[in-house]
Amino acid sequence: MKVVRTVAEVREARASSAAVGLVPTMGALHAGHVSLFEAARAECELVVASLFVNEAQFTTRDDFTHYPRDEERDAQVAREAGVDVLFAPTADELYPAGFRTWVEPSEQGLEADFRPGHFRAVATVCLKLFNIVRPLRAYFGQKDAQQVHVIRRMLRDLNVDLELRVVPTVRDADGLALSSRNARLTPEERELALALPRALQTRDPARARELLDGVHVDYVEIAEFEPKVLAGAVRVGSTRLIDNVVLEGDLQ
Ligand code: PAJ
Repeated sequence: MKVVRTVAEVREARASSAAVGLVPTMGALHAGHVSLFEAARAECELVVASLFVNEAQFTTRDDFTHYPRDEERDAQVAREAGVDVLFAPTADELYPAGFRTWVEPSEQGLEADFRPGHFRAVATVCLKLFNIVRPLRAYFGQKDAQQVHVIRRMLRDLNVDLELRVVPTVRDADGLALSSRNARLTPEERELALALPRALQTRDPARARELLDGVHVDYVEIAEFEPKVLAGAVRVGSTRLIDNVVLEGDLQ
C-alpha cells in the first residue's frame, strides 16, 4: 500500500486503473470502515482510501481536537484490508489559502438541525475527493444514513458520474454500532448508549422514545430516505451517538 499526501500523487497513482473504488474516511479505523474497504476490494481494480479529519464538518472545536488520530495504526488496518492507496493529505493540501467555494446541500431535519454547517462541509470535501480521485465507485456506510442521502442527492443534482455503494452498519456483539467516538465511552456510559440500538430495534418511534426515557435524546424519527429508516441521536456524557435501522427497502 502506498501512502500519498498530495493531489498530484493520487492522480499519478490512479492513472492506469479504470475501475477505481474510493472509501472516504476520517481515520480511527474500525471494522465498519474495513467492511467498506472489503466491499471496494471485491469489485474494484484499485482501492483508494482517504484519511482526512475534516475540521469544517465538526460542530465543536472540542470534538475536532479530541477526534482520535493514529495514522500508523490506520495505515496498518487499511493495508491489511487490501487498500492500495491511502490518501492522507494535510489541511493545506485540500484547503489552501484562498479556498472560497462550498457545496451547500439544502438539507433540513435530523443531523442538519443539530449540526449546522455539517453537511455543507461533508458534501464539499466529498466532491473534492471525487474530483481528485475520479473513482468509478464510492463507498459509504448506512450507519450515517443522512450523509448517504445528502451525497446521493449531490451526485444527482450536480451530475457527478460515479456509482454510490452503501454498506450495512457493522455492530459490536452487544448491538452498539461501531463508531470512532465509542472509544470515549466509560463502561457505564456504554451501558446507557446501548439503549439507542435497543430502542431503534422496536422500529417504532413512540416505543423507541419510551425505551430512551432517562437518556438525552436529540431526535428519534422516521426519515424517508432511500431506504426509509428509523434514525436516532442521543448524548451520553459528552459523547453524541447516532444510529438507524432500515424499515423498508434495500440499501442501494
Ligand atoms: P467516518 O466517520 O470516518 O466514516 C467513514 C465511512 O465509514 C462513512 O461512510 C461511514 O458511514 C462509514 N462507517 C462508520 N461507521 C460504520 C459502521 N459501524 N458500519 C458501517 N459503516 C460505517 O463519515 C465520515 O468519516 C466523513 O463524514 C467523510 C465521509 C469521510 C467526509 O469527511
